[in-house]
Amino acid sequence: MVKNKNLIHFLISHAKNNGFIFSSSEIYGGLNAVYDYGQYGVELKNNIKEYWWKSMVFLHENIVGSDSSILMHPDIWKASGHVDEFNELLIDNKNSKKRYRPDILIEEYIEKKFSDYPERKKEIFLRLHQSLEKKNYSDIRILIDELNICDPISGTKNWTEIRYFNMMFKIKEEIKKDLFLRPETSQGIFSNFNNIKKSSRMKIPFGVAQIGKSFRNEIIARQFLFRLREFEQMEMLFFIHPNDEKKWYEYWKKNRIEWHLALELGDRKYQLSNHKNLAHYASLGTDIEFNFPFGFKEIEGIHSRRDFDLKKHEFFSKKKFRIFDSNENYIPYVIETSLGLDRLFLAIFSSSLKKEKLENGTERIVLKLPPFLSPVKAAIFPLVKKDGLPEIAKKIFNEIKTNYRLIFSQKGSIGKLYRIQDAIGTPICFTIDYETVEKNTVTVRDRDSMKQKRIHIKEISNVIDKKTGIENILKKLSINL
Ligand code: GAP
Repeated sequence: MVKNKNLIHFLISHAKNNGFIFSSSEIYGGLNAVYDYGQYGVELKNNIKEYWWKSMVFLHENIVGSDSSILMHPDIWKASGHVDEFNELLIDNKNSKKRYRPDILIEEYIEKKFSDYPERKKEIFLRLHQSLEKKNYSDIRILIDELNICDPISGTKNWTEIRYFNMMFKIKEEIKKDLFLRPETSQGIFSNFNNIKKSSRMKIPFGVAQIGKSFRNEIIARQFLFRLREFEQMEMLFFIHPNDEKKWYEYWKKNRIEWHLALELGDRKYQLSNHKNLAHYASLGTDIEFNFPFGFKEIEGIHSRRDFDLKKHEFFSKKKFRIFDSNENYIPYVIETSLGLDRLFLAIFSSSLKKEKLENGTERIVLKLPPFLSPVKAAIFPLVKKDGLPEIAKKIFNEIKTNYRLIFSQKGSIGKLYRIQDAIGTPICFTIDYETVEKNTVTVRDRDSMKQKRIHIKEISNVIDKKTGIENILKKLSINL
């Protein structure tokens, strides 16, 4: 087991050296809190998206997909409240000129300072959250003084007052109103509500799912993929009758936690936390928190947004967003599930990366990803580069490559090739040897157990399907629906 304090460093270097994650614009010194996905990162990310998309859209008859634009009319953000309300607190240290979020500054400080005093920690945490709730920012400033919190860079307590900061990125347009990079994908669904309802002919309750980029000018952007300025969200809005708010809110909480647990990263890695400070649009909210290498943190939010957004859009756009049902005419309520794709990537990647001691005293690094998410489903190697073995291996590869992302390699010894595949999480390796020529059999090597057995060539596809097919996990989920 890698020690926690070194884990992030280990993750970052493994992710970089094996083509998962690179710092954006690295050749120019990088860009704070923006990352690129490399050749295996993009495959893993696409597989995660497929899992979410199929669970939402394929398994629910009453959920459809959508893909709205990142740039939207600026009035959308006025109506949604993001122009006026989507603010974070900030505080500057006058000596280092570094900027912090005061709530995170306090939380991180008490986490370290009072780790052995849970009661004291709880007490400060409670005071912080009460002050946040009451918007009593002067008390938060007093708390920073009382706790004697110093800037980690300058070491001084020379703090400014606490101020507000809008988190949306603005794009200047020469003549027209400024545009914004969207801070959530959901507004694209709200603004298309009538189009989707009419064209899909769906009746309440129904949902709309979307995966896409969002942007937030985070003041503290750290912890690798956890808090980014450009990230992806997988959001689903479920439109319901107002009387059914509690029922669907509970349904989606349960559904979403089951979805996470099906990844088998460990049941104890998750906890639910009821929102202490609700977002400006929400009336009920729960976070699913994951035990990242730096502790339990939000990975997904489930909110009841009631009719907040559609009502505001009625007011600003002068269009109606109504359901006409027998004698009723109402604006539907909305339960939203909102999952950060990059955070989920980090959760899966960090839980799967292992250093293992082997019986012969050596060590291997293996990425024990859920096999259906692995970037490469199987690798095919010839044992030696002669006697027709590469040709047979290539033939097998060509026959099945349309169905799976595979690797064919003949560079290096078999042991070395296995290690390379372990590092990127390939669940199965097939080796073509002299028995293949004689008996049409190949060796199958399992990533996790490292056990090997022989199978007939004809069984190769079946073995891959059984081990890596997404259908298996979707079937299990659909039983509970
Ligand atoms: N539409 C609702 C919404 O955006 P949120 O709680 O602000 O709610 C939802 O965000 C999810 O998006 C979070 O649970 C998190 O996984 C992800 N997320 C939010 N800000 C992020 C950031 N700066 N970097 C990476 N992921 C982020």
